[in-house]
Amino acid sequence: MQDSSGEDSGHFEAAYSLKTNDQTRQHYKSWADTYDREVGEINGYAQPQRVAEIISTLNPDLSCHILDAGCGSGLSGMAMHKSGYSNVDGCDFSPEMLEKSQEKGCYVKLFEANLNESLQDTADESYDVVACVGVFSFGHVFPDACDELLRVLRRGGHLIIALNEQYWDKGDLAAKLAKLEASGAIGILEKQFGEHMPGHKVNGWVISAVKM
Ligand SMILES: C[S@@+](CC[C@H](N)C(=O)[O-])C[C@H]1O[C@@H](n2cnc3c(N)ncnc32)[C@H](O)[C@@H]1O
Repeated sequence: MQDSSGEDSGHFEAAYSLKTNDQTRQHYKSWADTYDREVGEINGYAQPQRVAEIISTLNPDLSCHILDAGCGSGLSGMAMHKSGYSNVDGCDFSPEMLEKSQEKGCYVKLFEANLNESLQDTADESYDVVACVGVFSFGHVFPDACDELLRVLRRGGHLIIALNEQYWDKGDLAAKLAKLEASGAIGILEKQFGEHMPGHKVNGWVISAVKM
């Protein structure tokens, strides 16, 4: 699939066939230098702005402590920063993407972490908001990671997950969220359908939940 400019490094197509975390880390190592241009500028990646708007609605306190889980090169953190949020941490398992985030200067703290494992150095209930933008996907972060994201989120805090429709349609994340809701761990507030990557005609969901 070509992007709307005719430029295409092949990373979009490849992203949907990733299976393992090793493949995914390698994928972002080779994409880090051109990710912002291809994803943000050429293809109009819509999810960071959608998520920033939802955070503004759910938690208008601009000093609230936010974890941008899977921050990548920082497009999601930049959207929060532009909305006025000043206390945003980011983590990712790609050192090359984290380096790009560091250059943006919109994070208080950045750290390396595999979200499919435990966030060892992060205390329980550290965050008011945990946002995962474009991170639950094939070979990326899997539904069970929600347990750890909820551990580091305070009670009454918000978990916001933005993802492409292809991964949502697989059904595993929906099943996990339904199970968490049935157990009383979260309340689902909203499931919003809209643009994900307009340049590739891909739509996506933003799911907002509150930790009970
Ligand atoms: C599509 S990018 C999204 C980045 C950023 N949130 C944004 O919206 O631009 C997906 C990011 O998830 C990270 N990622 C994938 N699997 C991960 C994992 N298991 N643990 C931590 N980060 C992961 C990748 O390194 C990449 O930076």
